Parts: sequence; structure tokens; C-alpha cells
Amino acid sequence: MKTIIANWKMNVGVRESVALARGTLLTLRGRKNIPELVICPPFVALSEVRKIVARSHAALGAQNMSWEDQGAFTGEISPRMFEELGVTHVILGHSERRHVLGETDEMIQKKVQKALEHNLVVILCVGETKAQRDAGEERDIVKEQLLKAFDGLRIKNAEKIFIAYEPVWAIGTGQSAEVPQMLEMHEWIKRVLHERFKEIPASQFRVLYGGSVTPDNAYQFLRESLVDGVLVGGASVKINQFNEIVEAASEVLEAQS
Ligand code: 13P
Repeated sequence: MKTIIANWKMNVGVRESVALARGTLLTLRGRKNIPELVICPPFVALSEVRKIVARSHAALGAQNMSWEDQGAFTGEISPRMFEELGVTHVILGHSERRHVLGETDEMIQKKVQKALEHNLVVILCVGETKAQRDAGEERDIVKEQLLKAFDGLRIKNAEKIFIAYEPVWAIGTGQSAEVPQMLEMHEWIKRVLHERFKEIPASQFRVLYGGSVTPDNAYQFLRESLVDGVLVGGASVKINQFNEIVEAASEVLEAQS
């Protein structure tokens, strides 16, 4: 299977989200082989988008979450609230939250733990900065992010986990990773997780690529067996582009069927 996750970030309001959700679902219409689709609108649009994706093939995801269930945490949104909204997936540790909003590995670990407690599917983002790659530290950085995010956690299988490899330098820059760079990191991520959770085979961990995914490069990523899907930012709010990315995934699935 291939999974496409649409991260709309803070780019659309409620009305635009409704239109975009309808358009996004239309990208699945009439296709024989459809990828798994997860739509992650801004919090304020979750309720309206839920009405559209209900009874469709798409799942609803949130872009962030508090590690607390309830209480005096002004401005936070808890996983309990997601239950009412039909949210099944949550993006955690996105680089914009790490680098712009100061989220630490410790905060991300608490969120991962809480999300798994609530039976949510975690989409954990990891990735190095340009300076870290230039210094040859990308593997160490990603390993550390993974080990810290799962620190102290026990999991029996990888069903509720996606790792999104999103190199920071590729996000929103138009400069995606090269396929060999990406494959090396996907293999590394699966290896690190297998070493951490010994009883779970490396192949069970689903790893997505994110960072300037476009109609021009989606196929080259998706056709790789080490790539379980893509996490799409900018191109997910442009319906024509998103449609072509879904098309690429369908072609890959068709070729594999
Ligand atoms: P872009 O696709 O805009 O580079 O964003 C990637 C991303 O951050 C998805 O989470």
C-alpha cells in the first residue's frame, strides 16, 4: 500500500478547507488502485472536514496535539477532543514545530506516548537541517530524534506508526531530497527502529518521504518499495497538483498489482 498524507498547515480557513476536502476526495474517483489518504486540515476546520470525509476512503488527521488530556493549558488541543471529531491520525514533531515553535524531543516523546495511549496513528516527523547534513550528521540526528521520541515506550507492532522523513532543507524550498539520499535514510530509519524494538521486523515500520513533493517527483519516490508514501505540504492545497500526486500513487499501485 502507499499512503498520501495532506498537511494543509496554516494555509486554509474553514471555507477553503471544505472546498479543498471535496476536491481532494474527487482525486480518488474512478481510480482502480487508490492509495490510503489522510487529510490534515487546521484544527478549526476539523469539524467541517469530518462531515465531508465521513464514509469516504480518506482518514482525518490533526497537525499537532497536547500531551495532556484536559486542564488549564490555554490554546492547546487534546487527544480526547479528537475522539469527538473522528480524528484518527496526528502529525507529531513536524520540523516547523521543532524549529519555529521550539518543540523539544522530550515534548514530542510525551505527545507520542499520549497519542498511542489514545489509539491514534502517529505520524512522527524526523529530519536534519542543511547544516547538519553538510556536517555529515544526518544519520545521528535522525537516530537521536527517533530514540528520544520513543524513549521508554513499549510497542508490540508498528501498526499505529508512520515515520515521515522530512529533511528540513527540503521543506517548502522546492529542493526535494535526491532519491538515493532518501532511500539511505529510509533504510536507516527502519534499521534504527528494528534495533530499538527488536521483536518488530524493520519492514513493518512504514516510512514516508516529505519535503517539496510535487507532481514532477512524486512517482520517483513512490515507486520505491522502501517508500510507504509521501507527506505533502504545499502541493496538497493545490488540487491539480495533488490530483497528479494521487495519480502517481495509483500508477505505482497498478504496476505492483
Ligand atoms: P512541502 O511539501 O511544502 O515542502 O512541505 C512538506 C511538509 O512539511 C509536509 O509536512
